[in-house]
Amino acid sequence: MNKIKMVWAEDQQHAIGKDGTIPWHIADDLKLFKAETLNTLTVMGRATWDSIGRPLPKRTNVVLTRQETWQSGHESVKVVHSVDEVIQLFKQCDQDMAIIGGAEIFKLFMPFADELVITRVQATINGDTFVDDINRDDFTLQSQKNYEKNDNNDYAFIVEHYLKK
Ligand SMILES: NC(=O)c1ccc[n+]([C@@H]2O[C@H](COP(=O)([O-])OP(=O)(O)OC[C@H]3O[C@@H](n4cnc5c(N)ncnc54)[C@H](OP(=O)(O)O)[C@@H]3O)[C@@H](O)[C@H]2O)c1
Repeated sequence: MNKIKMVWAEDQQHAIGKDGTIPWHIADDLKLFKAETLNTLTVMGRATWDSIGRPLPKRTNVVLTRQETWQSGHESVKVVHSVDEVIQLFKQCDQDMAIIGGAEIFKLFMPFADELVITRVQATINGDTFVDDINRDDFTLQSQKNYEKNDNNDYAFIVEHYLKK
């Protein structure tokens, strides 16, 4: 059965963004992000689309906006206007779905998530966009792996996988 996973990186205060971007460079986490999202229906809010600025390759890019006339400028990108429309797409396609943010979109899809992949960046970056702490009554921690700060990674980080109870 296909799954709905949510994938994000947050700092020690649950910040995921600042000034419309992600305020760290962690190359090894980008590799993990790629591995988690390849060949999925990859869903993002219009603000996150703006910050990425191009379709993510080898994924079906889906952008959620309330603007009826908004266009991405890329034929391959699916533009949708409600959570229901996203769920319909998911039911029609034979792929996992990865919800990749930002904060507004994580909040909308939390009730549907089967799996969470959370990167906990070991830093406080004075962000302006935050996710809620997850409800540990709803999810079980399956795995946890530590990564060191090094030339590729601005900060040390911990990657956690959770499954819905
Ligand atoms: N660290 C991470 O893992 C990570 C991941 C993703 C993003 N980010 C960061 O998070 C920030 C962006 O997050 P954000 O929360 O501001 O924005 P967002 O969630 O990316 O997008 C918000 C937009 O989504 C659309 N939207 C929201 N609810 C909707 C609904 N119910 N129906 C239809 N459309 C809806 C609206 O677009 P319209 O205004 O067009 O109507 C809204 O402005 C950036 O700084 C980005 O870099 C971080």
